[in-house]
Amino acid sequence: MTRAVRRAIETGGFYARERNVTTMSHEDFPTENPAVVTCGLPYANGDLHIGHLRGYIGADAFSRALETLGQETAYVCGSDMHGTPVAVNAEQQGVDPADFALDWHEQYEETFPKFNVDFDNYGHTHDETNTELTQEIVRTLDDEGYIYEKEIQVAYDPDADQYLPDRYVEGTCPYCGEKARGDECDEGCQRHLEPGEVEDPTSTITGNPAEYRERTHKFFEVSEFSDFLTEFLDGLEGTSNARNQPRQWIEDGLQDWCITRDMDWGIDYPNGDDDTEGDDLVLYVWVDAPVEYISSTKQYSERVGKDEYDWEQVWKGDVSASEASGGSEAHGSSGGEIMHVIGRDIIQHHTIFWPAMLEGAGYNKPRGIAATGFITINGKGLSTSRNRAIWAKEYLDEGFHPDLLRYYLTTTGGLQQDVDFSWDAFQEKVNGELVGTVGNFWYRSLLFAYRNYEGTPDTDISAEVEERIEGAIGDVRENVNDYSMRGVGGAATQLAQFGNEYIQRNEPWKLTDDEPEEAAQVIRDCVQIAKAVGVLLEPIAPDKAQALWEQLGEDGEIADAHLEDALEAPPRTFDEPGELFGKIEDERVEELTEKLEERVAAASDDGEESDDGDAETESDDTDADESERMADTDDLEPLLEDRIGFEDFQELDIRVGRIESAEGIEGADDLAKLAVDIGFETRQVVAGIKQLHDLDELPGTKCVLLANMEPAELFGVESNGMILAAGEEADLLTTHGDAALGEKIK
Ligand code: MF3
Ligand code: ZN
Repeated sequence: MTRAVRRAIETGGFYARERNVTTMSHEDFPTENPAVVTCGLPYANGDLHIGHLRGYIGADAFSRALETLGQETAYVCGSDMHGTPVAVNAEQQGVDPADFALDWHEQYEETFPKFNVDFDNYGHTHDETNTELTQEIVRTLDDEGYIYEKEIQVAYDPDADQYLPDRYVEGTCPYCGEKARGDECDEGCQRHLEPGEVEDPTSTITGNPAEYRERTHKFFEVSEFSDFLTEFLDGLEGTSNARNQPRQWIEDGLQDWCITRDMDWGIDYPNGDDDTEGDDLVLYVWVDAPVEYISSTKQYSERVGKDEYDWEQVWKGDVSASEASGGSEAHGSSGGEIMHVIGRDIIQHHTIFWPAMLEGAGYNKPRGIAATGFITINGKGLSTSRNRAIWAKEYLDEGFHPDLLRYYLTTTGGLQQDVDFSWDAFQEKVNGELVGTVGNFWYRSLLFAYRNYEGTPDTDISAEVEERIEGAIGDVRENVNDYSMRGVGGAATQLAQFGNEYIQRNEPWKLTDDEPEEAAQVIRDCVQIAKAVGVLLEPIAPDKAQALWEQLGEDGEIADAHLEDALEAPPRTFDEPGELFGKIEDERVEELTEKLEERVAAASDDGEESDDGDAETESDDTDADESERMADTDDLEPLLEDRIGFEDFQELDIRVGRIESAEGIEGADDLAKLAVDIGFETRQVVAGIKQLHDLDELPGTKCVLLANMEPAELFGVESNGMILAAGEEADLLTTHGDAALGEKIK
């Protein structure tokens, strides 16, 4: 599936429900247990960009949203200092990897708060806490008999006189045939690759074909954990991709995992007394990196005190109590709610290796893993080497408020979906939803209240509005439990939309003279809605929500408010409000778009490699042009020999459409009933895609419809057209430009 198609499919309607959680075994949030939210650690090797920000902002919003539910939550992370992603880049710059990584680490520490990404602790994998904990965990795994030694063939570059672990070697993925790195199929199937697996390996140092040398390495017996992992996945919350992909890998058979590397930079393999082997081996970066989730929680706990937040309860506390009770009744402390937000390229590490390590070493396992899609820029894969990216620093330098990007990134698509960024789409979202809906409602209602009542009119809110706000609170609660930040933002914006309609419908400006009580009631309601929108929007737009809070004359921090506070009356008086959102002008967008295009063009002129020393953060580097999956032609339907004339083709009336709604058909396992808007009219179509697509995600998807297909009836439902799709997975066809609904395909 091309990225553009996927994007089109995945650009679900703004208000379409995102359903990530399908398991039922956990008690709803908020629970009695402390929670920890983590986000995949950034490699300390280059500038942060919008691809990173999506994850950190999404996880930050999630952790803030959990807190508004009353869930005790810590949000922790740290820089990923080790491994070849850091070593290779440091070497290219001729600097020591430790200094190199620390520099980037310090930059990240400074940058995240500028996006209101508010970690409770931000550590790094090279610090003492993590070094000790990692070695302790590996020692435990060893003591438990899960680690063994094996002689393997390791790639070696004779000219460089160096072993070639991971990113020091490139070749072909043995699973999908795409170009791959030594340890990951980053442009193809996203699988982790074991040393020696990559085919036709060449050294990234010299370009030479790699030679092989025999070395003794340590292996972790992941294969022993198949049954455990199967069960673990059955109870795992989060996005469906984080359950389905690993199930497939388990079915294909798990391999043991080589956890050491021939490198200097990293955490030393811990040597027991009687163990002199492995002196010169460091741990594979993917061993110590996730341990930082625990280390960072520990550092937080040590800073605030165990009474306030107990890392051991979270990571080692007894969870059997909550499982046994089915989680339905209140119970005392029993473990913690561990939630990982990651990119979908590191699902295998988090759903196979990591839980196996945790299980083997006696730690608690995550409750949920949310694996996000990638970011594309103007419809193309984000590429740091091509400078096709929006850099964190650049965004801030342009003077945009972080909350605008936070809102864009969290509400544009569901978690699993790829989200496209263009300055146009950014403008449209900001001007439409933040300026036009939220900001407009906040300003007009507070201004009216200020001018006529010097604040909040002294009456109770109406039953209608109370109910509407309660409904929105319920929505947020449900969406948080579904890990849907888009849903949380949607609930807030829809409430503001309701506010605008409410004020419009009641026209308080016509009532102030003759019906003062009614006018006061309407405005009282509006001020309450404004406050509620603030409370609901805080996880996504914390600064803007705080500014509203202050305009309402509230004390303290809106970040400390709980959802129920949305129904508490604001202070009786407040000062004259100001507008909290400003429109982005067309000229600005043109200028920014042009700048971006020029920059990308300049980078391509320079050739494909960046020569400015900008380090790659390749996990987000998802070039659309290169990542199309190649099918094995043996598996394809043979090409037809018989040719048709153009007239024959013209008999097909194929049109651009958009799926408006999608639901299953009772009794039919595979069929879905779709409403497809084709400009002239909306067609009801039956399509065999129920198993292959998440129906909730389909509304809003642009598609291609054969409009003059003979009507048919399937399971009693009329089908009036045929939606076009490719292959066994029913990869839906779409258009890649602006073709309007109803345009003919020719
Ligand atoms: N640095 C890794 C990457 O960018 C992510 C590490 S996440 C952790 O792909 F789980 F290992 F912490
Ligand atoms: Zn592959």
